[in-house]
Amino acid sequence: MPRRKKMMPVAPASMPLRKSDKTPSRLLGMKDWVGAEGAYFDNLVQQARKFAKLYSFSPVKTPVLETYDLYKKSVRRNADKEFYAIDGDKSERMILRPEITQGIIRAYLENNLPETGRASRLYSVGPIFRREKLQTGHYRESTQFNMEILGDHKPLAEALLITVAHNFFSELQIKTQVQINSLGNAECRREYCAKLLAFYRERGRRSKLCRSCQNNMGKNCLSLLDCKEDDCVKARAEAPQIADHLPAESREHFTKTLEFLDELNIGYNFNPYLVRGLNYYNDTVFEFWPVNDDGSILGKTALAGGGRYDSLVEQLGGLPTPAVGLAIGLERTLARVRDKQLLTGAAEDDIVFIAQLGEPARLKSLQLFDELRHAGFNVRQSFVSDSLKIQLEEAVAMRAKTSLILGRKEIMDGTILMRDMDSGAQETVVYKKIKERLSRKDKLVEKKFNNRKEGGLYGGF
Ligand code: HAM
Repeated sequence: MPRRKKMMPVAPASMPLRKSDKTPSRLLGMKDWVGAEGAYFDNLVQQARKFAKLYSFSPVKTPVLETYDLYKKSVRRNADKEFYAIDGDKSERMILRPEITQGIIRAYLENNLPETGRASRLYSVGPIFRREKLQTGHYRESTQFNMEILGDHKPLAEALLITVAHNFFSELQIKTQVQINSLGNAECRREYCAKLLAFYRERGRRSKLCRSCQNNMGKNCLSLLDCKEDDCVKARAEAPQIADHLPAESREHFTKTLEFLDELNIGYNFNPYLVRGLNYYNDTVFEFWPVNDDGSILGKTALAGGGRYDSLVEQLGGLPTPAVGLAIGLERTLARVRDKQLLTGAAEDDIVFIAQLGEPARLKSLQLFDELRHAGFNVRQSFVSDSLKIQLEEAVAMRAKTSLILGRKEIMDGTILMRDMDSGAQETVVYKKIKERLSRKDKLVEKKFNNRKEGGLYGGF
């Protein structure tokens, strides 16, 4: 009698695995991506990369840890307290990047990436770290899909970035509205701030502001405009607007940007209070806010934000280089995707799923998986479940076109069962002929589609 192998005890799925409250848990403001959520998030990242490629952005991957100096000059206002800063060797101060933009610029300069005769379009997807106040939609580690156009001063660059984000959200069926404003240049902002401060000092308005705005008044006047406190929102209603203080060049740039958005049919809201919390912007700034089906604002927690920053590259040690960029927050985006099927690879219509039953079939199916993958088929397999029912459920969930089923009997007969997932029809195919049979099936589908194109449904193209 063969002896049974001794199995390691495994806790049933419903039983807690942590021994006590002292077992380490994740830090506050951090998130685990597990189970279906992990798969959705992964697909969202893939979607981001697909979009970046589609619009000719080149990938860059920069370190998560950068020098503190890279960020200290160009940070968000009052953001030092949001930094995760670390003292490294030789007392070099380091920082877990709070945004990706500066890292991309550093890499652009350090690796001499400027392209002759055209702007550089760079993108990166990765984590950022901010020691944020704990509240919904604000994580201390979050993921940004970041796109930068370096070396382009034209308003079409803004329009392109807004288009990419607009289409990215549309494809995920997320309704958004673009909030847009212009911050002009440094000189006009200085003049405007003087006017704004004078306004708040008149008629005892200052005393009605929240404590933080009262403290910030001398330090950064623009933050007075984006405070969310009721009293501050009321007070700013009569405040002077920066749009009335823009120099001719900035006004022209902004008008052109809005005209492009009109032509592209992208709705926007001119928001004179949108100032963005970062120090480096000039001219156009914009955010994507989620909206309800009727177009009303769903919340002011932006899904994406960006703008033009024509002085930052020079500030970071490069030659003067006009630039504009955008970052989409992937955690906030995923939270707004209602139909998660959109993130299950549903766009692929040619998936071949291999299901197996029993130990010998398991091994054989792994070989088949590699063989079909090398032959160019879009092949999938459940590497976690041995239950045929669960495997076929997975095939349905990923909308596989065909399932190949391999069991003990098929292995003995040198065959495989091929199941059409739409009709449920099954046929037994000789194992060695499977690639040929799959290709024939593909051609048949193609032919059916072409017939429809020529005749009925798609006629006229
Ligand atoms: P930001 O507005 O700070 O801009 O961030 C962009 C997006 O990242 C936000 O709209 C949000 O979706 C997401 N995000 C930021 N912080 C968090 C957080 N704590 N938790 C969850 N999501 C978050 C920037 O970072 C600029 N660097 C964008 C840019 C690129 N400007 C020019 N180029």
